[in-house]
Amino acid sequence: MKNFTYYTPTKIVFGKDTEKEVGQLVKEAGATKVLLHYGGESAQRSGLLDRVRESLKEAGIEFVELGGVVPNPRMSLAYEGIELCRKEGVDFILPVGGGSVIDSAKCIAYGTVYDGDVWDFYDYRAEATDALPVGTVLTLAATGSEMSKSSVMTLEEGWLKRGYGNDLGRPVFSILNPELTYSLPDYQTACGIVDIMMHTMERYFNLTGDSRLTDVLSEALLRTMLEYGPVAMENPEDYNARAQIMWAGCVSHNGLLSAGIDEEDWSTHKLEHELGGMFDVAHGAGLAAVWGSWARYVYKEDVNRFAQFAVNVMGVTNDFRDQETTALAGIRKLEEFFISLGMPTSISDLGYDLTEEQIEELSYKCCLMGRCTIGAFKRLDQDDMAEIFRMAK
Ligand code: NZQ
Ligand code: ZN
Repeated sequence: MKNFTYYTPTKIVFGKDTEKEVGQLVKEAGATKVLLHYGGESAQRSGLLDRVRESLKEAGIEFVELGGVVPNPRMSLAYEGIELCRKEGVDFILPVGGGSVIDSAKCIAYGTVYDGDVWDFYDYRAEATDALPVGTVLTLAATGSEMSKSSVMTLEEGWLKRGYGNDLGRPVFSILNPELTYSLPDYQTACGIVDIMMHTMERYFNLTGDSRLTDVLSEALLRTMLEYGPVAMENPEDYNARAQIMWAGCVSHNGLLSAGIDEEDWSTHKLEHELGGMFDVAHGAGLAAVWGSWARYVYKEDVNRFAQFAVNVMGVTNDFRDQETTALAGIRKLEEFFISLGMPTSISDLGYDLTEEQIEELSYKCCLMGRCTIGAFKRLDQDDMAEIFRMAK
């Protein structure tokens, strides 16, 4: 087991009706003026925003509002939010929504107290040293942003989608009421299931070799998703299934499943972020479209690891004489699960017929214009990235 730091300061308030506690939680966090940040119509339509406004008023908290966050959240709205927070003297950001709304809130939190351009952080040119506090009301179990240090933003100029991680971005609190996810379209539920599994697998596929407890926790989380994902798809108002998935979303991305491992991988995420930037695809769907190609490209780095995944997670019968067959069966079985959720397993399934020129552009951007490689299970350079995009076509 490797040395590690586990830092998870977010207070989780989980269960039915918990959004009514938001005013009190904001008050306890010392806020005096809040930016209430949200997306399109869903939170207004469900009555959630009205309940949140009511709770803030009851707690005597002043607030201003900024809606309109779109999936793959845009920098232009974050810049608007930063101006608004400065003008209004906002000292706390309250996103109500999915990962896109929370990420936009984190970006505003960094930018409001930074003299330069907040994109510097997402372009890996500077580190944030301060941020306004953020507390969240989650409506979509997927990204884990409600406990994570990450946020992912898209700069319209060049359509660059980039992630930034800093412990200052970890929410002070997150309110998780599984009932708030009943209204999700099936497609978003499925995208969320894929994303939660991928956050686990980006950590699970590592070369550490002696991370037993973390392995077993990861495998349990993945099996929980295989079991309860279809239940939630079948019956969107199954409270227990929604609750299992929502908590799994937190655990998959709050750092617990990285404890003691050598290095996380994140290649599939980095490849997907380029697809999200270029085609504005839903994050989970983009992950499902490229994961199998990534897996087939890298599995030989540690065939036994993929065979362990196949047996312990996907329930494949172990072929002891041929671990490669076992490994490949596990990859195929997970793809079949994605298909059963209505998810794509190729980029053409997403509706795009990639040209060679687009493959070159995607891989050039993915290696930050030649500035870096990605991945740890297998280190990938620009040519490797292009090959995976070709395989995923
Ligand atoms: O805008 P509204 O009307 O709210 O609709 C949203 C949106 O259209 C809808 N929705 C959300 N909650 C709903 C609902 N519809 C009905 N009922 C509800 N309860 O769902 C749509 C998608 O929302 P979005 O927030 O974009 O989805 P998600 O939570 O999957 O977030 C995706 C973004 O997060 C980033 C992704 O790259 C992508 O940009 N990620 C952030 C991470 C992080 N901060 O740690 C890690 C992830 O790996 C990921 O990269
Ligand atoms: Zn993700």
